[in-house]
Amino acid sequence: MSPQPGSTFLAACRRQPVAHTPIWVMRQAGRYLPEYRELRTKVAFEALTHQPELAAEVTLQPLRRFELDAAILFSDIMTPVQGMGLDLTFDPGPVVRDPIRSDAQIDALRELVPERDVPHVLQSIKLIRPNLPRGAPLIGFAGGPFTLLCYLVSGKPSKEFDIARSFLYARPQSAERLLDHLADAMAAYLAAQAAAGAQALMLFESWAGLLGPAAFDRFALRGARRTLAALRQRTDVPLIYYVNQGSALMELVAALDVDVIGVDWRTPLGKVRQVLGPGKAVQGNLDPAALFAPPDDLKRHADEVLREAGKAPGHIFNLGHGIWPNTDPDAVARLVDHVHERTA
Ligand code: CP3
Repeated sequence: MSPQPGSTFLAACRRQPVAHTPIWVMRQAGRYLPEYRELRTKVAFEALTHQPELAAEVTLQPLRRFELDAAILFSDIMTPVQGMGLDLTFDPGPVVRDPIRSDAQIDALRELVPERDVPHVLQSIKLIRPNLPRGAPLIGFAGGPFTLLCYLVSGKPSKEFDIARSFLYARPQSAERLLDHLADAMAAYLAAQAAAGAQALMLFESWAGLLGPAAFDRFALRGARRTLAALRQRTDVPLIYYVNQGSALMELVAALDVDVIGVDWRTPLGKVRQVLGPGKAVQGNLDPAALFAPPDDLKRHADEVLREAGKAPGHIFNLGHGIWPNTDPDAVARLVDHVHERTA
């Protein structure tokens, strides 16, 4: 019996054979969808993340439009940090009122108790689960501790995160304390998401590529290892680690106890799979810019990703980073259908 469409994503996470290659799109719930923009004319982004009915609605929007194989919770990586008592706004990216620069500020960040501090996120998950079309599973997520540190120390989005990166070198022990604190908070947060109904958990290490291998190991992997090890004790849902700009870091990433590695578009998946070995599934890695190609070219670019991923089980099709707000939703529809047809 062929598996239900909705189970292809979880099977691929576990490197089991699937009826077709599953596909979802990073940042699939968001501004490229007219229905999201329409809702945003009435409701601010932060209110969307704090009102479970609205967060559930936005999570489901892309699944109504496209035959996606997974949903991702609508929230933000900084939402739990707000729950830890940090004064933070979105404009449109996260802006921290008092960026963290001292040990006293690190100590003032309270422990995250998800049921107390982010009940709205857990409630969103409970509302989403029974309404998912085609039995699609729900992915819960959090920011990697290092990626969170980047925003907390720099205070706002930045190209180089120079303030955060210099903090690592100027105050390494303080950085480690902050990372450990964030790692424990994200473990509690993700475990609570799984308990509420999330069927896979993803850590976004969006700024991993700013670090060389030694700093990546000391800071980013320190945090990720700590979160993932705690999660392995608390849940058996598949764990995904997304490493943006991670080409030079894959040997280190290979040693991580995680089921799936999310890969940006800069390295072909064939090469990544060679380095990671057969024990990990891969997720990715079409360039988000490829969605602007004429229809036949887009198909060719998608085929190239599939060819690189190869025939071994354990590939989840995705973009190499988040979809751009100016993308034509029709291109997403064509991509999803093509990946399904081509791999069925
Ligand atoms: O569809 C989904 O993927 C779920 C929703 C989601 C959002 N943010 C909603 C959002 C997810 C998974 C995220 C993760 C996130 N947030 C990351 C990791 C993924 C990545 O892209 O690397 C990061 C680094 C952030 C931090 C963040 N939040 C930034 C830099 C910004 C502004 C830049 C941007 O993308 O617009 C946000 C705001 C944000 N988060 C928006 C959305 C839909 C835009 C807010 C709006 O509607 O105005």
